[in-house]
Amino acid sequence: MTAIVVVGAQWGDEGKGKIVDLVAERADVVVRYGGGANAGHTLKVNGQKVVTHLLPSGVLHPTTRCVLGAGMVIDPKVLLEEILDIEGRGLSVRSRITISGRAHATLPFQAAIDRAANAGPRAIGTTGRGIGPTYSDKSARVGVRLGDLVSSTRARSALEALVDAYKWRARAVGAAEPSVDEALAFLEPLMRDIQPLLGDTSLLVDRALRDNERVVFEGAQGTLLDLDHGTYPFVTSSNTVAGGACTGTGIGPTRIDAVFGITKAYCTRVGHGPFPSELHGTAGDSLREAGEEYGATTGRPRRCGWLDLPALRYAVRVNGLTALAVTKLDILSGYDEIPVCTQYRVDGELTAELPVDDLDRAEPVFERFTGWKEAISSARALGDLPASARAYITMIEERVETRIAMVSVGAERAETIVLGDPFARAR
Ligand code: IMP
Repeated sequence: MTAIVVVGAQWGDEGKGKIVDLVAERADVVVRYGGGANAGHTLKVNGQKVVTHLLPSGVLHPTTRCVLGAGMVIDPKVLLEEILDIEGRGLSVRSRITISGRAHATLPFQAAIDRAANAGPRAIGTTGRGIGPTYSDKSARVGVRLGDLVSSTRARSALEALVDAYKWRARAVGAAEPSVDEALAFLEPLMRDIQPLLGDTSLLVDRALRDNERVVFEGAQGTLLDLDHGTYPFVTSSNTVAGGACTGTGIGPTRIDAVFGITKAYCTRVGHGPFPSELHGTAGDSLREAGEEYGATTGRPRRCGWLDLPALRYAVRVNGLTALAVTKLDILSGYDEIPVCTQYRVDGELTAELPVDDLDRAEPVFERFTGWKEAISSARALGDLPASARAYITMIEERVETRIAMVSVGAERAETIVLGDPFARAR
């Protein structure tokens, strides 16, 4: 048995989609355990670009079984559109996916209230997909679960509690008040397609692990967007860290063998919130253009900056990373020197630990590393890289004391240097 969790080690958009897709080649089951259609996992296969928001990236491997776990929030309309899109590419999907009836449904009025609340000086800069409202309704115990969509009677009764709870909220932000009839009219045409896909996903994953199958838990967003351990309040509303794989799936922590963190060779962030190593002006613009750093879900330009080692060490700690993949190394070709944030200065004091609650007051302290001029996308082994690119990888490995198992040098599946087995057991 090998169970591996794959998580983003920064603010999301680290290129998890490509890495999970590669790892999924050897997996029997791929599980999404948290988040919803706020995620956008971009995959490039044979020159074709595919973006998944809800389906695990493993869906592109025709025999991999896919699970959408209890910790997810699922917009049923987006889910069906995505299934139809992948089926349109000639892959069967419905026979391979199982969705937890405990996952919560995101309804149009939850997305509308997310967008309405997403303005003004305290805005988080959310994706506007209804993620925050759906998770808060879940915590307030008025949410609608996918398991409620088995009959109109049950769906109506669940909707009554939710719509009731919404009336005052809608008034507070000037949004239209939702109605049970309207929400049911939205859900009813989708219910027939959703019902056959529901199942006991905790039991399914448990059986897969008992049968010695390989299971990959695919994280969404990134460590610093975690509700408890990220840059609160500028975070998403779920636990994006590796521990979320257990609660979001319904398996115990003793079942996880390895945790694989994904980091870009630099940093990006979308939405508001602190980002100490951010590059402003033309320097940030040119990194954004070189890396095509625009949100896969919203198309928003991503904020760009240099690699932040204290933040990466923090990700190693809070996720218990056993190995790392470094993505987009090719985007750094062409620089004479590459600055890397190795410490912060907070109120005049130097620290190498991430002051996650004081990050807006942390000034980055940079060290400079020698760059390289060559394009590197054809490299398939470390030895194919220029010496300074190799040194950059070794520097990361040493400074965060974590083995690097993969280096991505381009968007295509093949453009990857595989250095070790990400499935290698931690214990
Ligand atoms: P929400 O998850 O839509 O509520 O957005 C909360 C914050 O998380 C915002 O800053 C979003 O930009 C960010 N966010 C949510 N999902 C992703 C993602 O998949 N990649 C990167 N940032 C994300």
